[in-house]
Amino acid sequence: MGNRIDPWGSASVKDYARLEKEFGIERFSKLLPKIKDPLLTMKRGIVFGHRDFGKVIEAMNRGKKFVMLTGLMPSGKFHLGHKMVADEIIYLQKHGARTYLLVADIEAYNMRGKSLDELRKTAIEEYLVNYIALGLKPKHCDFYFQSSRSSDAEKSNAYYRLIGMVSKRATFNEMKAIYGELTPSKIMSVFTQVADILHPQLPEFEGRCPVVVPVGVDQDPHIKLTRDIASRLKGNNEFDFMPPSSFYHEFMPGLKGVDTKMSSSDPYSYIALTDSPAEARKKVMKYAFSGGGNSLEEHRKNGGNTKVDVPYRMLYYMFEPDDNKLAKIKKEYESGNMLTGELKQILVDKLTYFLERHHDAREKAKDKVSEFLGN
Ligand code: TRP
Repeated sequence: MGNRIDPWGSASVKDYARLEKEFGIERFSKLLPKIKDPLLTMKRGIVFGHRDFGKVIEAMNRGKKFVMLTGLMPSGKFHLGHKMVADEIIYLQKHGARTYLLVADIEAYNMRGKSLDELRKTAIEEYLVNYIALGLKPKHCDFYFQSSRSSDAEKSNAYYRLIGMVSKRATFNEMKAIYGELTPSKIMSVFTQVADILHPQLPEFEGRCPVVVPVGVDQDPHIKLTRDIASRLKGNNEFDFMPPSSFYHEFMPGLKGVDTKMSSSDPYSYIALTDSPAEARKKVMKYAFSGGGNSLEEHRKNGGNTKVDVPYRMLYYMFEPDDNKLAKIKKEYESGNMLTGELKQILVDKLTYFLERHHDAREKAKDKVSEFLGN
């Protein structure tokens, strides 16, 4: 990780504890007792860190207005790593968040050289359809593209005006310290993202209120900078923004190992939500890294290592919500009673069940897409 987090890099984070010490990310578990009906990933400590999320919980518990905003870079297939964020978005919406979902098509255009048309298609067919199938609702949901904020001219103007103004409250030296080598495209992306995160608090949108941004921890540099810019804008009596909050989860490991990430650019690293149950089965059986012994004999003797076993991690992150059942699997596997193939089969059964239902839900979701577009 070095001493910087690179939001445009592909490095996986190996040491989550260090983030607390080095970057000032707070520990999530301290907030847990205040959260009603927390997500599985919150209870299990997979959501490990946050910035200033306490004030959002307070708003949530008191039924006060708050906003959930996050952005997506359309990068191909929507996989289980993306589903973790989707579950967070839908959880927050269910608990009263005004939901702002943006497609970072300008960022993807500048940083990855894709056409806006292609990006729009991926954003809708992969991301939006899956969000809807997973439970996203159109009520209080503002889905937009960075390239076309709103058909309401006042709203649109307010957003683009803010993009143009936020750079006044940052310095080049601080930008270099945060991001290392800068390019014009990176600088544009940063200020667009700062305005994305702050604009729900403009009078043309919700007005001043708590905003939470659930994202991968690789996005934390942007969150930290946005919080600082919000305070400086307020200090200079320019805009009255509350510093936005965030929380972060550990990444779901890629199939190839716990130190890798699911990446849209490598089909053997992920399970996509459009994979057929047969494809998913094959990926798990053939490619998912096993922490089992090298031979049957060795496995029976020493057992499997659940810390590095990807199928086990997938049960832990998402597919076995029952703590008792999970503990039993862990015990059986670590003792060598349960074999790698048997553990993988448990995951395959869960995946099959999920994917079959999800594919039906996707078909229904396709008819609802228009309810989310054209804001
Ligand atoms: N940079 C984000 C990514 O790479 C996308 C993004 C743009 C975003 N604007 C945002 C994320 C605002 C959160 C909030 O995925």
